[in-house]
Parts: sequence; structure tokens; C-alpha cells
Amino acid sequence: MLGNFTFCNPTRLYFGEGAIQNLKGELAKYGSMVMLVYGGGSIKKNGIYDGVMAVLKECGKKVVEYGGVMPNPTSAKLAEGARIARENNVDLILAVGGGSVCDYSKAVSVSAYCEDDPWQKYYIRFEEPTCKIIPVGCVLTMVGTGSEMNGGAVITNHEQKLKIGHVFGTEVFPKFSVLDPTYTYTLPKYQMVAGFYDIMSHILEQYFSGEDDNTSDYIAEGLLRSLIHSSLIAVENPRDYEARSNIMWTATWALNTLTAQGKTTDWEVHMIGQAVGAYTDATHGMTLAAVSMAYYRYIMPFGLKKFARYAVNVWGVNAESKSEEQVATEGLVAMESWMNKIGLVMNLKDLGVTPDMIEGIADATLIMQGGYKVLTREEVIDILKRSL
Ligand code: NZQ
Ligand code: ZN
Repeated sequence: MLGNFTFCNPTRLYFGEGAIQNLKGELAKYGSMVMLVYGGGSIKKNGIYDGVMAVLKECGKKVVEYGGVMPNPTSAKLAEGARIARENNVDLILAVGGGSVCDYSKAVSVSAYCEDDPWQKYYIRFEEPTCKIIPVGCVLTMVGTGSEMNGGAVITNHEQKLKIGHVFGTEVFPKFSVLDPTYTYTLPKYQMVAGFYDIMSHILEQYFSGEDDNTSDYIAEGLLRSLIHSSLIAVENPRDYEARSNIMWTATWALNTLTAQGKTTDWEVHMIGQAVGAYTDATHGMTLAAVSMAYYRYIMPFGLKKFARYAVNVWGVNAESKSEEQVATEGLVAMESWMNKIGLVMNLKDLGVTPDMIEGIADATLIMQGGYKVLTREEVIDILKRSL
């Protein structure tokens, strides 16, 4: 059964090679002052910056450039960007980059006119914005987070050793996003596959919860199969447009609220992964990969039926004359083998986690209620140790 829900996703997408041309029509909707937000400089090396600047110039926009947004953007950087957006009376924030840049831009959009401390208000007290929100548009260059079509904005506070995501409402979703699969060709392999696993994890976080028969889970299985198929092609040939475009589209649907409709969700892998990120600043997708197998093997007995379904429908495990447990186990073995094949980091040690960090990471892990097993602190510690 599907529970009741309201579904609205207001983000307009422009998808495909050359989609940047649609930026002109979007820019016409906003005032003259554009804050161009980007990361550490990859867009200057691969030409995306020049393409975007050319369109901004053609449209007669005044541009406030603000680069240097780091992977896992920080609360300190947020405070600075919010001040710059406010002082320049920005009409539109144009995020050109990956999830970090898009998340960051959304966070700036609700912080520029916030009279409170944004970290405290949005990330500690989880309050909703009450101030003016600056519209955000995205030009995506890295695939994985789904930030291009959702309200998520994850911020890290290094002093407090916390990495927290606020999922804002539709008023904070990007107004539009430009998705050109060829923009992702220059991603280093490490980032590319980390993004692939982030997509898988988003789908699984929503899939491994609940027992009801519902359409959302069937959609999830289709997305997973497409991802697995295309990821193997993309790893061999990163410039395979068919694979990269399918993956880009899968990433968007994996976390634009669609597959969560009418059902419960888990998100515990992300909570553990984010705590690892707060301690190590490691790449998001890799933090998820490093803890996933230990987590899923641990909770499998509590959601056996779904794990067996996953094995058959996603990994093609033959269930004939096997117990549910055998089938489910084979599914996780197949998943692990795919993870190794595409080159993911499979343990926490390789991300810089040391045994003395385990207790702190467990303390920084939020415990979710929607999965097949509500973990205790001791169980989180156990999973972290198994992931080392
Ligand atoms: O900073 P630059 O120089 O641009 O380099 C980036 C960065 O080093 C590079 N890159 C991006 N596009 C490139 C490229 N390099 C070459 N060519 C390109 N086309 O890739 C590196 C990683 O970029 P980043 O934006 O950090 O990666 P990602 O998209 O994975 O975003 C990660 C952030 O998103 C959050 C994560 O926690 C993390 O903070 N998430 C956001 C979510 C959401 N909005 O719903 C959900 C996710 O679960 C996730 O938590
Ligand atoms: Zn994620």
C-alpha cells in the first residue's frame, strides 16, 4: 500500500548536450545581479566557466564571482557567502559545480537575509526559513547527490565535528538546473565512481524500509538496474554518452523525492557516512561505500524478505530451491563484487579513520527510525569497527 502524499517538484530541468543554451531564457526571468558560485577551479580548466560567462555576458548580467567552495562546504564559508550575497543585493545565485556547490548555494539562499545564526537555526534546531530566499539555479558538473532537483543542503562544521543535512522545502529547490552529461566527462575516476555509489545509496536508503507492495520500490529497482548496467560501461569508457546520460538522469530521480513517496525510508548509512565525513572530510560517496556492506549485512536478518527481493529483482540471483537467507546473502555478495569492480573504497581505514575516532563518530551519528533495525550506539560502534 502507498501512504497518502503530496508530490510537487518545481525544478525545471534542461537535459542533454548543449543544454546550456537554455540558460538565456532562465536568466531573463531574474534581475541583473547574478552571484556565480563555483568550487576549487575545475570549471576554469574544462571550459565550463567560459561557456557560462559567455551566456551571462550576452544577457547583460552583472556578475559577482564567488569561488572556492570546497567539497563538504563549511559553516564558515556559508557565513561569508551569505554576507557577499546580501551586500551585493543578488537577484539570482547561479551554482556551477557538483553537489557541494549546489548545496552551498541553497544554504546561502536562505542565510543571506537570516537574522539568526544560520548554522544554529537550520542545522542544529532544524527550523525552516522565515526570511527572504534568493532564487538558485544550477549548472551541474558532477553527478550523484541529486542536489540539482531537491532541497538538500549539507553543511559541515569542523569545530563541532558535525556534518548535517537540512532538507528544505520546495521554495528552496533550484528554480532550474542545466544537466549536460558531457560536462561530467572531466571528473577524475575517484569522484565519478563515488558519485555512482552515492546514487545507489540514495535509492537503497529509500528502498530498504517497509514491507508494503508499492510502486516506489518498483521504480527504485528499475533505477538500480539502469545504474548498475551503465556504471560498468562508464568505468570502461568515461566518454560513453549513453551511459553517462543515463546515469545523470538516474541520479536526479534517485533523490528528487519521487521514490520516497507513500513509504517509509531509512537513511542510516548516510547518517553514519556523514559522521565519518565530519571526522575525515572524506569524499561523500566513499564514506557511504566504506560502511554499507557492514551495515547491510547487519540489518539483513531484520528485513530478510526485502533483501531477498533485492537479490532477485536487482542482481538477478536465481532463487530456485534456496532459502530466503541464501538468496539475500547472494544479493549482497553480488553488490559487493560490483562495488569492488567499479573501484570504490571498501573500508574506513583508507579514508583516514583510526580506531580512536570510532566512539566520536558514533556520537556524531544520528539514529534514524525508519530502517529495518533502529540501531543502538553500541551497534553503530560495531558496524564502524567491522568497516575499519
Ligand atoms: O571544486 P572543483 O574544483 O569544482 O572540483 C570538484 C570537487 O573536487 C570536482 N568536480 C566537480 N565537477 C567536476 C569536477 N572535476 C572535474 N570535472 C568536473 N566536471 O569533484 C569534486 C567533488 O565535488 P563535490 O561537489 O564535492 O561532489 P558531490 O557532487 O558528490 O557533492 C558532495 C556534497 O553533497 C552533499 C555531500 O554530503 C557533500 O557535502 N550531499 C548532498 C545531498 C543533497 N543535496 O540532497 C545528498 C547527498 O547525500 C550528499 O549528502
Ligand atoms: Zn548521498
